[in-house]
Amino acid sequence: MSKGGLEDVIVAESAICSIDGAAGTLRYCGYSIDDLVAHGSFPECAWLLWHGQLPNAQELNGLRATLRARRDLSEGMNFLVHGLAERAAPMDALRTAVSAMGIDDETTDGNAPADLDLSQDRAIRMMAQMPVLVATYSRLREGKPVVPPDLDEAANFLWMMRGEVPSNAEAKAFDACLVMHAEHGFNASTFAARVVASTLTDIYSAVSSAIASLKGPLHGGANTRVMEMLLEIGSEDRVTQWVDDALARKERIMGFGHRVYKTTDPRARILEQLSEQCAELAGNRLWFELSRRVQAEVNARKPLVTNVDFFSASTYYAMGLSPEIYTPIFALARVAGWTAHVLEQYRNNRLMRPRAAWVGPEPRSWVPVEAR
Ligand code: COA
Repeated sequence: MSKGGLEDVIVAESAICSIDGAAGTLRYCGYSIDDLVAHGSFPECAWLLWHGQLPNAQELNGLRATLRARRDLSEGMNFLVHGLAERAAPMDALRTAVSAMGIDDETTDGNAPADLDLSQDRAIRMMAQMPVLVATYSRLREGKPVVPPDLDEAANFLWMMRGEVPSNAEAKAFDACLVMHAEHGFNASTFAARVVASTLTDIYSAVSSAIASLKGPLHGGANTRVMEMLLEIGSEDRVTQWVDDALARKERIMGFGHRVYKTTDPRARILEQLSEQCAELAGNRLWFELSRRVQAEVNARKPLVTNVDFFSASTYYAMGLSPEIYTPIFALARVAGWTAHVLEQYRNNRLMRPRAAWVGPEPRSWVPVEAR
């Protein structure tokens, strides 16, 4: 009998992402995550995931220009974001806004076709507008004026969030974060998107379901909770006691453990370096040092890998980003992978319809209500 959770179950063929959990390696369409972070950019990776090949210069420039041209929110979407900023939590707001993008799309005809060209176009629209939605929502939440989009992808998000042009080093670091979060095989949210897409419903619906799945603390919700944990611990001298107490209560420590990686998560290795680099840029090493100390104390007690969420928390914090939007940041990067998977599903679709092992009662006879 399996342990459940679909562990090690092969549900489809895919040419998008390969992970070797034992070796601790991750590749998008054959390219290692180290190479993609060192040499690539987020739009380049999105193109790679969608088309299986790196873009040439003309294709890349074309994609960048299209992303810039499609950022503006319609009047209806703007109105919605203002309302969401007043009362909705960040991932609820993003899920609702992306779902509303489906209604707001002039190509929606009520039948929401799983047409490949249309869906590719919608994928670009989501990638262009999700950062704008998140930044607009966040500025409104903080009672600050909304900053109109202006720069290239990663730099633009920092610009819209903070209202100041980021340094090249910061923009490059944030771009690397987007690259590392862009795709990760058949994780829970991507699988959710593929299950939904397998009914041949539209790509907005599939991405909305993926966002709903990412929100959970066992998946993308962990990065916000990592920062909450670091803020709660507060100083290095409190780490040992905090970790002892949490493990004695049999709590899961956020940012640790992974279903697939059992030796090392390559993204965590790169993010540890980025976290240190961003701490230096910010002139404050506290959260990086505290993260390292938590890592050492947890590993002294349990052989758990540090996952992608762990060092992304201190990295974003050093960039001055509010912890409540760390999971939406994950989503605005992962939309590249989700949409690539939805397109792959549409190209070779068969309805996903698994079965469960029956553990309920033997067949029984109906008992009238007065006789129960
Ligand atoms: N803190 C403490 N113990 C943990 C742990 C964590 N973060 N993650 C796993 N463990 C322990 C489990 O308690 C279990 O111990 P046991 O065998 O003594 O009962 C063992 O490690 C195996 O855990 P299991 O639940 O089988 O792993 P999984 O593959 O189902 O879970 C996660 C993977 C990611 C859900 C899990 O590691 C977790 O909850 N991590 C924290 C949330 C997180 O960071 N999520 C982001 C993932 S990228």
